[in-house]
Amino acid sequence: MRPLAAHIDLDALRHNYQLACRCAPQSRSVAVIKADAYGHGAVACAHALESHVPAFAVACIEEAIALRNSGISKPIVLLEGIFSADELPLVERYALWTAIHSAWQVDALLAFSPSQPIPVWLKVDSGMHRLGFGLEEAEAVWQRLVNAPQVTALHLMSHFATADASDGLYFNQQLLSLKALAKTLDAPLCLANSPATLAWPDAHGDWNRPGIMLYGSNPLEVANPTTQQLRPVMSLRSEIIGLREINEGEPVGYGGRWRAPRRSRIAVVAAGYGDGYDRHAVDGTPVLINGQRCAIAGKVSMDMLTVDVTDIQDAAIGSEVVLWGAASNGAVLAVDEVARYCDTISYTLLTGVLPRVPRRYQESSV
Ligand SMILES: Cc1ncc(COP(=O)(O)O)c(C=O)c1O
Repeated sequence: MRPLAAHIDLDALRHNYQLACRCAPQSRSVAVIKADAYGHGAVACAHALESHVPAFAVACIEEAIALRNSGISKPIVLLEGIFSADELPLVERYALWTAIHSAWQVDALLAFSPSQPIPVWLKVDSGMHRLGFGLEEAEAVWQRLVNAPQVTALHLMSHFATADASDGLYFNQQLLSLKALAKTLDAPLCLANSPATLAWPDAHGDWNRPGIMLYGSNPLEVANPTTQQLRPVMSLRSEIIGLREINEGEPVGYGGRWRAPRRSRIAVVAAGYGDGYDRHAVDGTPVLINGQRCAIAGKVSMDMLTVDVTDIQDAAIGSEVVLWGAASNGAVLAVDEVARYCDTISYTLLTGVLPRVPRRYQESSV
């Protein structure tokens, strides 16, 4: 069997969720498990978290129905709401909560007659300029919804564009305008994503929406004592399947991008871009072999990648290779560090692990 697998540590997931709750003790934290729980497997992650969380958040109704069909009964919020009016009977049938970001969604909801009112999060564009009603129109929309028989538990929701930046300039503009609006409407708030949960207590609302931190990645520019407590949830591990010695000056892989600076030993690892490992990984991108750091040498292929193991004495066929996450000896390679070498972010690496890679779940307690 091919040795590559994504090992998912469900204890670490719960630990990180509890850390999010400790960061914001006055808020309820909805666990964001959209995009298949950022690649970790939404059904398994939801079941691991269900007794700890007040609600889950997903991107769309298909994701919510998959959770319901797996037996999840906690509230599930649709962060982008419905994509067409004919989803409203499903929102009712599956007892979902929904964001509303557009006038057509308001019209559709007010033309619908659910047997029970639907919890609604009114999405306001306070500066992200993606989805949501403009600050100037939000009050009128709020007034249309707040006493409507179709609606219950109306909240204001907004998303920050720069909560991960340490200067806080644009972030504070967004926050101030949202607080002013919430005061005018006497509205409960749901604002904070992971970086705001970790770094901006002023943004903690009645609800927060941490996502990436649940999976152990630090979304802030600079680590702090709290982010250092995050534990990796996904460990992408494989093995060495080939080893060869090459002479100084010889190239490795497509295009011969890497050339041996000395006589070198090259390990071939069963993992490639056909598994979702980023092809943009440069020479020098770290991996752990038998828990020791070494570096990618040569372009990533579809099913394999190559690593310079000249200084790793015990590298052998079958040696453990960690592409990110935790090694068997306890060493950790942060997905955030790998992402920097790939000129990307942890979110794309984690969500990019393809279905070809089996997810193996482990937990010591529930
Ligand atoms: C609307 C919304 N809320 C919350 C989150 C969670 O953000 P993060 O993963 O940065 O915590 C996201 C993520 O994209 C989002 O789109």
